Amino acid sequence: MLIEEKHKKKIENEKIIFQKKLYIQSYGCAMNFSDSEVVASILKKEGYAITNNSNEANLILINTCSIREKAEQTVRKRIKEFKKNKQSNRNLTIGILGCMAERLKSKFLEEEKLVDLVIGPDAYRDLPKLIKETNEGRKAVNVILSKEETYAGINPVRLNSNGVTAFVSITRGCDNMCSFCVVPFTRGRERSRDPQSILNEILTLNKSGYKEVTLLGQNVDSYLWFGGGAKKDFLKKNDKERQNHINFAKLLEMIAVNNKNMRIRFSTSNPQDMKNEVLKTIAKYHNICNYIHLPVQSGSSKILKLMNRGHSREWYLERIKTIYKHIPDCGLSSDFITGFCDETEEDHQLTLSLMEEVKYHFSYMFYYSERPNTYAQRKLKDNIPEKIKKRRLQEIIDLQHKHSLHRNKMCVGKIFEVLIEGDSKKSNKEFYGRTPQNTVVVFKKLNHQIGDFVNVKITDCTSATLIGKTI
Ligand code: SAH
Ligand code: F3S
Repeated sequence: MLIEEKHKKKIENEKIIFQKKLYIQSYGCAMNFSDSEVVASILKKEGYAITNNSNEANLILINTCSIREKAEQTVRKRIKEFKKNKQSNRNLTIGILGCMAERLKSKFLEEEKLVDLVIGPDAYRDLPKLIKETNEGRKAVNVILSKEETYAGINPVRLNSNGVTAFVSITRGCDNMCSFCVVPFTRGRERSRDPQSILNEILTLNKSGYKEVTLLGQNVDSYLWFGGGAKKDFLKKNDKERQNHINFAKLLEMIAVNNKNMRIRFSTSNPQDMKNEVLKTIAKYHNICNYIHLPVQSGSSKILKLMNRGHSREWYLERIKTIYKHIPDCGLSSDFITGFCDETEEDHQLTLSLMEEVKYHFSYMFYYSERPNTYAQRKLKDNIPEKIKKRRLQEIIDLQHKHSLHRNKMCVGKIFEVLIEGDSKKSNKEFYGRTPQNTVVVFKKLNHQIGDFVNVKITDCTSATLIGKTI
């Protein structure tokens, strides 16, 4: 080898050795996965490359979830697994992001000695500064919540992407204060992102070949842009500022009109905020998917009141009727909690009967897990034994299973437009994609490609999946 070449090679090797490498892992909701993409973007500007191998990282970040106790236990277990990384690399920084960081603050550093850095969901722009502190041998914390931060203007780096579907966050925080929920404490007050920055992000995705976006927020229907700031400040604005506001229906319309070649989804809707104007907009535009995730939590108005949900059973069922009036083929899903404080067998039966009335396409189901500092933890008694919580949970899971199968059977013989997202899990001879109603479909690969829209005739199904062939 020539001397020059040798020298070049040496420099390259050094570059590899000294390159800053970030390993980032996310737990919990879609918002956390989306936030990690914002974090990756901030750190890419600082010269970090993303790695999927934690052994070669000099920065490990874990984006954490606090929603149930079990979610926190999973994160703590994962942190312990990084002990060997720390032993083999003295320069490794381990950072905790997200809801556990916000909930536990500097206590986290005392409880988990491996952790060097704790940063809450509104402080990610401060990461470069905090990493510098840890590199100088200090522990670093920033858990300040903001009334303004929406990370507008940051173009997220898409992590583990299929190149077809992406999340775009439109609101942050939550003002709803459901009595069981830790989110308002860990993610702060509700605020909406500048519509122009949302449109810009979607346009960039569109130009890069993406075909579907899911708009994210804890409560998307309460999206409200009036120039920035916490939602509560809207009332303080003058008439002109209020007149020019943009609500969720308007935002949806702007996105749909500007991106006719893309599908639009959103999550999550709250029953008390879901306006008819939104339903009309969904019905009006073919590219807004006919699917609504509308968590109910319980079928008993007594329990809904204790949960501070802002809607009763009757109100909820009226919303479902109105949804079907505007969008007859709408896909519906829900979240449920069993064994909330004071839930009797009758309350539980009301949940089962509500499920019978709606027959959701699918649901996310949990048993109640008391969370520190929530209203329920401070004022109500977690008085349903775990065994009963779990038995009730199993009953709603079994019923949901039946309903999913019923819904899927109704699809057999029908034709759906499906966006191809990738190879099916079971076979690389098959593709998988989703119907507008958000049900997974698998079908044999023919001349199509990932990212194509195809018409699929459904020939068979299980409770989780539709099986079909392209026509
Ligand atoms: N609005 C949010 C809700 C986030 S939490 C969204 O965008 O989806 C997701 C679900 O977790 C809730 O709907 C609820 O069913 C469940 N959940 C929240 N707190 C819980 C708790 N303390 N115990 C059990 N389940 C809980
Ligand atoms: Fe939690 Fe209720 Fe908001 S479930 S995220 S407080 S809508």
